[in-house]
Formats: sequence, structure tokens, C-alpha cells
Amino acid sequence: MRVFVAGATGAIGRQLVPRLVAAGHAVHGMTRSESKQGLLYELGAVPVVADALDPDQVAAAIGKAEPDVVVHQLTGIGAVDMRHFDRSFALTNRLRTEGTDHLLSAAHAVGVRRFVAQGVAGYAAYARTGGSVKSEDDLLDTSPPREMRQTQAAILHVEHAVLEAPWTEGIVLRYGAFYGPGTSLAPGEEQFELVRRRKFPLVGDSAGVWSFIHVADAADATVAAIERGHRGAYNVVDDDPAPVAEWLPALAQALGAKPPMRVPRFVGRLFAGEAGVAVMTEIRGASNAKAKRELGWKPAHPTWRDGFTASASSPAIAEEIRG
Ligand SMILES: NC(=O)c1ccc[n+]([C@@H]2O[C@H](COP(=O)([O-])OP(=O)(O)OC[C@H]3O[C@@H](n4cnc5c(N)ncnc54)[C@H](OP(=O)(O)O)[C@@H]3O)[C@@H](O)[C@H]2O)c1
Repeated sequence: MRVFVAGATGAIGRQLVPRLVAAGHAVHGMTRSESKQGLLYELGAVPVVADALDPDQVAAAIGKAEPDVVVHQLTGIGAVDMRHFDRSFALTNRLRTEGTDHLLSAAHAVGVRRFVAQGVAGYAAYARTGGSVKSEDDLLDTSPPREMRQTQAAILHVEHAVLEAPWTEGIVLRYGAFYGPGTSLAPGEEQFELVRRRKFPLVGDSAGVWSFIHVADAADATVAAIERGHRGAYNVVDDDPAPVAEWLPALAQALGAKPPMRVPRFVGRLFAGEAGVAVMTEIRGASNAKAKRELGWKPAHPTWRDGFTASASSPAIAEEIRG
């Protein structure tokens, strides 16, 4: 198939493109930067330079590539200030609203058969009530913390726009928190370093449940969805959703750091706002049963328990992927 990947140079894109090429697909990879064309050639893709926020450039890029499938992996997540969550996600929110619309309209014009978009299984996704592990049929959050409202609205926009497009097979992959090469949960990167320096404390009961996914496993699931997914959402997460109270001390140990500090909720609120308290104490995890069943996929790193340890001891790979 001809596959057009928007976000081909990012954490997931760099893992995805070579896998698509190895599976025999012809890949067009989009970037804003002339300077990243070389990287895309190395990954095996035809580079396409276009700004995802410019509808004419997106229409021209997709019109020229004439893909069978469009994959939307556009984000712009820098350092996240939990107290100003929406501000930190402002660019990502634009990419998830305007960017999604531009890609959909360009994809419609050439009649793509599948449109696969990045969704979210963690922060601002599932309702923070009921069971601790959610399936795709469970409700998404309808009352996110104030600082997360725009981010949640943008996530919902992707869900509705993609899943309800009548002219294509719209698929949303609700990824768990990425770890591994090229992500912020990798040696030398933001989150690992916060944990290593004891700047990532446990908050209150730390009962928020997180689902993780190794970025290579996320890419494998994405290839499966591109090849044989059906309209709908799939949680792309590992087999081991776990409360913060469990994974954060284990991560500190894997990194050879001292155990994380503990702060009460009100201190958490002061430093990380309601959004920070929600992700540490209230969010729910996700089940990968549907993706396993329907995509014939299973993660090579079934649990973050082993994955973190392996990841913590492979700085060379992170450097290599980052270039
Ligand atoms: N589920 C998760 O846990 C999850 C999901 C997403 C990201 N993250 C994490 O967030 C961190 C940073 O990710 P990131 O989002 O900043 O960057 P990233 O991983 O580098 O990916 C961003 C991608 O979007 C493209 N892009 C952004 N704006 C664009 C635009 N206007 N036009 C065209 N392409 C555009 C970038 O292309 P160019 O830069 O080449 O133009 C790049 O390919 C990483 O640690 C990653 O693991 C985690």
C-alpha cells in the first residue's frame, strides 16, 4: 500500500516508518523541515515538506502522494507545565483540531481507504470514575480538570472527526504513555531525569492508574491497524496497567535512584495544579484485549516492569534514535 505518515520524524514516526517499509509499503513521510528530509530518506520514506497547519500545503502533499492510507501522528509536546497543561499542549491541540481537519479533507479528496490517527489512553482520556482499567466501550472524561479542558476537547475532536468520517475506515489508536528510545521516558530525557533527581513525587494515595507502551510496540500495533484495522478505537497499551504508587518507586529503583518523595494532595495541587493531582491520583488505565484480539498484535514488552529496566540500561539506543 501507499502510506502517508504525518509526524514521520517524531518519537513514534521514526519507529513506524522503517516497519512499514520492511512490510513492503511505499511510505511518504511529512516534515516541516527541509533539513529532516535526509532522516526520512534514511528511514526509507519519500520526504514531503509541508506545514500541517496550512491546508493548501497538506492538500498538495497528499494530492501528490495519492496514498491508500493516511496516518496522523502529529504532536508538538515540549516540556509540560502541569499547572498550565492546556498552555503546554496548545500546539498539539491545534494539530489535533485544525491539523486533523486538514488531513481528513485532503485524504477525502484522494479517497483514502483508511485514516489512522493518534489518540490518547492516559491523561484527559477515560472518565475518572468506575473501574480502574477501561475498554474502548467505556466513557471518555466529560469533566476534566479546568487546566486540561482544551486538551481534552482536542482529543475528543480527533475521536469524533476520524471515527465518524463516513467515506473512510477511521481508526483511533489510544496509545498509553510512551517509553523507550526517542521518548521522554528514556535515559537522559525529561521524565527519567525528574525521577532520577527525586523531582517526581508520589502525590496523596498515588492511586492514578497508568498504562504504558514501549514505543516500538506502539509502532507494531500501528502497522497492524494500517494493514487490517476496522473503523473504531483501539487501546494500544501493555498488559500491566498499574497505579502510580507501584510504577513510580519501581522506575526509581530501575534507574538506581532513591525512592520518590511523598507529598500530600494539597502540596501536589500547589505545584502541579488540579491536572497534576488528577494524573497522579485519579486517571484510569486501559485494556489491550481488543487490539490483541482484532489486530493480531501483542506487545513484545508486555510489562513496563521489565521494559523500564531494559530501557534504563540502553542509553546508546536513545542517542542513536535521536540522531
Ligand atoms: N502517548 C504518548 O505517551 C505520547 C504521544 C505523543 C508524544 N509523546 C511524547 O512527547 C515527546 C515529544 O513529542 P513531540 O510531540 O514534541 O514531538 P515528536 O515526537 O518529535 O513528534 C512530532 C511530530 O509531529 C510533526 N509536526 C509537528 N508540528 C508539525 C507541523 N506544523 N507540520 C508538520 N509536521 C509537524 C513533527 O515533524 P517535524 O518536526 O519534522 O516537522 C514530528 O514528526 C516525546 O517524548 C514523545 O514520546 C508521548
